[in-house]
Amino acid sequence: MPLRFARALVVILATLPFNSPIVSQESKADPAVSGWPATARDDVVETQVEDLLRRMTLEEKIGQLNLVSHGPPLKWNEISEGRIGALLNFNAAGDIARAQALARQSRLGIPPLFGLDVLHGFRTQFPIPLGEAAAFNPERSREAAAWAAREASHIGVQWTFAPMADLSRDIRWGRIVEGFGEDPHLGAVLTAARVEGFRQGGLATAVKHFAGYGAPQGGRDYDASSIPPAELRDLYLPPFRAAFAAGSVSVMAAFTALNGVPVTANSWLLEKVLRDEIGFDGFVTSDWAGIHELLGHGVAATEAEAARKALLAGVDMDMMGELYIQHIPDEVRAGRVPIEAVDEAARRVLRVKFRLGLFDRPDADPAHVDAVFPSAEARAASRAVARETLVLLHNRGDVLPIGPDVRRIAVIGPLADAPRDQLGPHAARAHASDSVTILEGIKWRARSSGIAVSYHAACDRLCSRDDGFAEALEAARQADLVIAVFGEPETLSGEAASRAHLGLNGRQPAILRALAELGKPMALVLVAGRPLILDDLAETIPAILMAWYPGTEGGSAVADVLFGDVTPSGKLPVSWPRSVGQIPIYYNRLPSGRPTLENNRFTLNYIDEAVTPLFPFGYGLGYSRFEYLGSSIADTMLTPSDTLAVTVTLRNAGARPGQEVVQLYIRDPVASRSRPLRELKAFRKVALQAGEQRSVVLSVPVRDLGFHRDDGTYVVEAGAIQLFVGGSSLAEPIGQITITKELQLPPGARQIAGSEPTTTAR
Ligand code: BGC
Repeated sequence: MPLRFARALVVILATLPFNSPIVSQESKADPAVSGWPATARDDVVETQVEDLLRRMTLEEKIGQLNLVSHGPPLKWNEISEGRIGALLNFNAAGDIARAQALARQSRLGIPPLFGLDVLHGFRTQFPIPLGEAAAFNPERSREAAAWAAREASHIGVQWTFAPMADLSRDIRWGRIVEGFGEDPHLGAVLTAARVEGFRQGGLATAVKHFAGYGAPQGGRDYDASSIPPAELRDLYLPPFRAAFAAGSVSVMAAFTALNGVPVTANSWLLEKVLRDEIGFDGFVTSDWAGIHELLGHGVAATEAEAARKALLAGVDMDMMGELYIQHIPDEVRAGRVPIEAVDEAARRVLRVKFRLGLFDRPDADPAHVDAVFPSAEARAASRAVARETLVLLHNRGDVLPIGPDVRRIAVIGPLADAPRDQLGPHAARAHASDSVTILEGIKWRARSSGIAVSYHAACDRLCSRDDGFAEALEAARQADLVIAVFGEPETLSGEAASRAHLGLNGRQPAILRALAELGKPMALVLVAGRPLILDDLAETIPAILMAWYPGTEGGSAVADVLFGDVTPSGKLPVSWPRSVGQIPIYYNRLPSGRPTLENNRFTLNYIDEAVTPLFPFGYGLGYSRFEYLGSSIADTMLTPSDTLAVTVTLRNAGARPGQEVVQLYIRDPVASRSRPLRELKAFRKVALQAGEQRSVVLSVPVRDLGFHRDDGTYVVEAGAIQLFVGGSSLAEPIGQITITKELQLPPGARQIAGSEPTTTAR
C-alpha cells in the first residue's frame, strides 16, 4: 500500500545524513507551469491532442490511462513501450529523468506525468491541512501549498494528489486530518487557495476524493457513505467546484461507495454531476487499486468487468490496478467498450499534458536533490503558518502567555520530544531530524529569558507504560509552571486510522490528572490530528492549546505562542465533542420540530450528555479581547443579482496586538426545505494593535445564499435571511435581509466559471 511504502521511505531517509545549504524561494518557481493554465491557447491544445490521438494505436491510448507506482510491479521497459502514461511515488530527480528518457524512446515520445502525495510539504513540513484550516487564512494556505510545490517540483514532481476536499463531520475518521473540517464555505475557500498555491509553486493538482469519502458510516475508513443528493451538492461538492474553478486539472475518485454505488463505477456522479453539471474537462484518476476494489464492492465479477465498468462510468486513469492495460484492448475488440470511450479518456489525459506544457519541458535534473531543503526561508514560512494554526481552547487564570515570574518550567510528555509525530501523516520526503521539537522550541526561548527547563517524558509515545512518571511528578512539583505535551501520535491519525475511542490513550488521563492535582499553573499542549475527548481534564487543566501536527518548525511556533511573542489566533474548523456518542456533531445542523429545552426530555436532547459541543466550530481564544462594537447591513432589500454587504466594527480591547476571525453566518428561517440553523458565508481575519478599532466589510453575492433540491436544481428563494456576526459559530444576531425575487437554476447552470466560492477572506 502507498502509505506503508511512503512510511518505509521516510524511515530509510530519516537515517541518511545530509547537509542543507540554503536555497532561495525564487529559484524554485517553474516558469513552465507558473503561467498555466493558458486558456487562450485552448484551440491550439485541442488541435495538438487530436493530431496525436489520430497517430496512436489502441494500446498506446490505453497506455496513457495507466498510472503505476515506483517499486513493484513497475516494469521500466513498459515506459519505453508506451504502456505507462503516468507514474507515482517517484521521489528522486534521477529516477524521474531515467523514466523521462525511456518515454522519449517510445514510438510517440509522450512524456509521462509524475505524481506524488504532497499534502502539507515535501521536505519542509507545514502544519497538517486540518491545522492549517484553523488559521482561517487562505493567504497562509496558498503560501504553504506553494512552498510544498516548489520543493517537490525542484526534483521533477509535476502533480500532487491534493488537496483533499472531503468535508467531514466525523472525527472518528482518521483522514479528517487531511482536509479542512466540517464547513463547506471554509472548505471551498481553502481548497481554492491550496490549488492556487500548488500551481504557483509548480504542481498540478488531483483534488480528492470525489465525493462523499469524508462521510463513511461510523467514521470507518473505506466504509460506504449515504448522502442525499441535495446535501451532496450543498455540502460536499462546493470545495470540489472551487478546486476546479481554481484550475485543478484532475480529480481522484473516492474508492468508497456513495448511496449504494461505488464511486469508481458511478456514472451518475462522474458523468452527470461532474461533467454535465459542473462542467469539468480535466481527467479522473481512480484511487489506489480502486478499480480492482469493484470486485470487493460486489459490482464486478471479473477484473475485465471492473475495468469496463470503471471506464464507462468515467474513470479515465487506472491507479495501481493495471486492469485497463490488461483488459480494455480485448473489451474494445469484443465490442463491449466503444473505442470512443477510450479516445475520450486518452483525450482528457493528453489535454492536461499539453496544458501543463509537458511536451516542452526539460527533463528533471538529477543534480536536484531534496537535501537542499529545508531552506531558512521555507522554515520561516512554515513557522509563520504554524503560529496561526494554534487554537487556545482555555486560558483560566491567564496561565498563558508565560509571565515574568516563571523561573522554572517542567515540560512533561512524550510528544514534547517527538520529531516525527509533530510532522503528521503524509509527510512526503520529511526527515524527522529537520524538526524543531516543542521541547527544543521551549528551551531555546526560555534560555533567552534565563528560565530553567526540565524535561520528563513520563511515558512512552503511546503512553502504555509510565515508568518515568514519578520523576516527572517530582519535576512538576519543583516548577513554577507545568507544560504538558500529550495527544495522539501520528500513527493514530490519517488513512486507515479510524478510532472508536477518542480519549487520550493509555496512561495519559491518569498522568494529566495527577499533574493537575498539584494545583500549579499548567498548560496542556495537544498534538493530534483531530479533537480528542478530554472528559474532566477540560475542567481541571487551566490552559489548553491545540497544536495539531504543527510541522517542521512546530516547536518554534508553539514556543512563540506560549511565551506570548505571538498571540494565538487559530479557530476550530471542527466542532469539538464532549463525548464520542455525540459524533457526528457539527454546527450547521438542521432545525428540529422540538428544539432543545433544558429539563424537557421530549425535545432534542441526550438524557446523559449535553447536546452542545465542548468547543464550537469557529471558536478560539487569544491573549487580547475583541469587542464587536456594531454591525450594519448596507442594503436589506436584495435580489439574487445583488451582493449582501455587512460592515462590522471591531476593537481590540486587550493589552496586546492580536488577530480575530470575524465570521458572518446566515439562516434561512422559512424555506421549502429545512435549512441549517447557521451557515458560514464569509469570514475575514483582522489584525489589530492593542486599543485599535477598525471596520471591515464582509460581502456575499445573494446568489450564494440558496440551496439545491434533490434533482440538482439550485434555488434562492424569496423571503427573509437572518444574519449573525461574531468570533465563533455562536455569533450574535445582527438583523435580517429580505430577498425580493426568487432565482431558480436548472442542474448544470452553475458550471465552473460561475461557481467559485466567495473568497471574501482574501
Ligand atoms: C489514498 C490516496 C492517495 C493514494 C496514492 C491512497 O491509498 O487514498 O489519497 O493519493 O493512495 O498514494
